[in-house]
Amino acid sequence: MQQAIAILDSGVGGLTVVKEVMRQLPLEKIIYFGDTARSPYGPRPAEEVQAFTAQIVDYLIQFNPKMIVIACNTATAAAMDLIRSKVSIPVLGVISPGVRAAIKSSFNARVGVIGTEGTIRSKAYEQALTSISPNIQVFSQACPDLAPLVEKGLFDSDETIQAVEASLSVLRSSPMDCLILGCTHYPFLTRAISEVMGSEVKLISSADETAREISAILHHHEMLSPTGMVPFHQFYCSGEPGLFKQIAQNWLKEEISITPVVWQVPTIR
Ligand code: DGL
Repeated sequence: MQQAIAILDSGVGGLTVVKEVMRQLPLEKIIYFGDTARSPYGPRPAEEVQAFTAQIVDYLIQFNPKMIVIACNTATAAAMDLIRSKVSIPVLGVISPGVRAAIKSSFNARVGVIGTEGTIRSKAYEQALTSISPNIQVFSQACPDLAPLVEKGLFDSDETIQAVEASLSVLRSSPMDCLILGCTHYPFLTRAISEVMGSEVKLISSADETAREISAILHHHEMLSPTGMVPFHQFYCSGEPGLFKQIAQNWLKEEISITPVVWQVPTIR
């Protein structure tokens, strides 16, 4: 059986990475898990996000994937080291790829980062950016209202535009030339975010760079799928699958099948 790339997120956000993987690696099979029953992860303590991420990885391992992609910044910041210590296959998060893309794009070494409270609190972006480029100036802002609106499928509603304006009001006057979308839900809001920030600020989504790194890792390990295979992707979510399916199909522009998962292990909250 074709071995898959397993991709996980708290909800629909990781689909922004899935879309780019489908485009750049069309022969690769994807197994996706969205933990919609417990989304958002952003306000939760790091220990809880670690426990949830580990539980999803335990679930995904039964499919014998060849690689795990933590397509959630909050989970990458909280649980990357833990997951790497648990499994023997390559594990990739979304923070390093986003950081590399921003460093490539910024000409004035002033970079903005927006993400969930958990991601911003962790300082994972500041640390990763300054470890590569010590003089870089980073402007960070937590935007707790945005991911829940995306989970509801509200990408262009008045409520969403107002939430984006309010969330970015402090950052707007900072002299950055690029802004990292440090939450995989935010590419769904690209239009609203770019209207608020203006065309001179380049928006960086880690999806593109993450897909490139997946490709490089699979190539390095000689694990790319052989040509001629037509992949059948599988999607799992822990909450009500109706809206998830609708958002996923609109975003990916293809029919998908979804299997709901009911967590048997009691959740912490
Ligand atoms: N998509 C997730 C991220 O990249 C988090 C959204 C949430 O569940 O709060 O951080």
